[in-house]
Amino acid sequence: MKHPHRSSSRRACLLGLLAAATLVSIGTATATPPAPRASTLGAQAAQSGRYFGTAVAAYKLNDRTYTTLLDREFNRVTPENEMKWDATEPSRGSFTFGPSDQIVNHALAHGQKVRGHTLVWHSQLPGWVGAITDATTLRGVMNNHIAGEMTHFKGKIHSWDVVNEAFADGGSGQHRSSVFQNVLGDGFIETAFRTARTADPSAKLCYNDYSIEDWNSAKTQGVYRMVRDFKARGVPIDCVGFQAHFGTSGPPASFGTTLANFAALGVDVQITELDIAQAPPTAYANTVRACMNVARCAGITVWGIRDTDSWRTGENPLLFDGGGNKKSAYYAALTTLGGTPAVHK
Ligand code: G3I
Repeated sequence: MKHPHRSSSRRACLLGLLAAATLVSIGTATATPPAPRASTLGAQAAQSGRYFGTAVAAYKLNDRTYTTLLDREFNRVTPENEMKWDATEPSRGSFTFGPSDQIVNHALAHGQKVRGHTLVWHSQLPGWVGAITDATTLRGVMNNHIAGEMTHFKGKIHSWDVVNEAFADGGSGQHRSSVFQNVLGDGFIETAFRTARTADPSAKLCYNDYSIEDWNSAKTQGVYRMVRDFKARGVPIDCVGFQAHFGTSGPPASFGTTLANFAALGVDVQITELDIAQAPPTAYANTVRACMNVARCAGITVWGIRDTDSWRTGENPLLFDGGGNKKSAYYAALTTLGGTPAVHK
């Protein structure tokens, strides 16, 4: 005689197994396999919705080693000097865009988006601007420069460094002295951002600075207060650029906190000019990890490709050596992004 309890429990067991098998098959059928780990910086960064970029000098675009590395590894480009005021409006009202167009055209032809660097900066500023003492004149000149440059590149620039390095070093947390600060006062930054939004609404507008990576720094706190105020008052700002020019020890321990706290204000954070003295692999890995740990960290730009391309002569701060060979810092950055080194046959 069949034991009624035993046959019904056997049926229940079989139904359970069938249900489990069905779920597994559905799960297996719908699960998206993880993308294969990429073997280049830009491709791997893109897998997390980020970019990995580099500063580019127009006069090096005829160097095949340079462009081979540029177009294989990077999907974001920042003109190193070609979009600065001294290069684009050397005399009042007279705009020149030859070298900057060269970089933008190369980038767009190679699927690389462009960071515009930089519209308002106290350095690399033509003498005719620095000589202005009248506020109405300077405000008009600044707004005309912003509008003139952004209109020329309208729709081609993913994000602009609208204002660069306006805060003072040291413990004040205030703006540095500059012709803009001295003639126009604190409000010049807001004016610049409002002008920029009107000039190209498609571009993200960034404030960019150095030595604002340490959360405990007065300069960092000064920039943080400005961004918080701008967001509270609806002043158009979309991102903060952390230049990340580091010594051999790499990022400060609080860098991740800084990125997270700025992102929590409702802006993207971008590492915009990364280079690290002697390029310690751990320091590069720590920097990449700090970005990967913050959802709104949009990406990383190194400030040059080869050590010989760096403004930091002799400090070997980049990912490729003078011969264009990958350094250990390159592998540290790639693997921390989640990538896997290419196997060269
Ligand atoms: O264009 C002139 C050229 O005509 C002249 O023959 C030559 C020799 O004097 O100088 C050329 O200008 C140089 C310019 O780069 C373009 O190559 C300047 O001397 C040189 O000082 C300038 O250096 C740049 C520096 O900004 C200026 O402050 C670096 O290449 C550039 O990497 C560096 O980048 C800055 C960022 O824009 C902002 N954050 C800091 C970062 C490092 O300073």
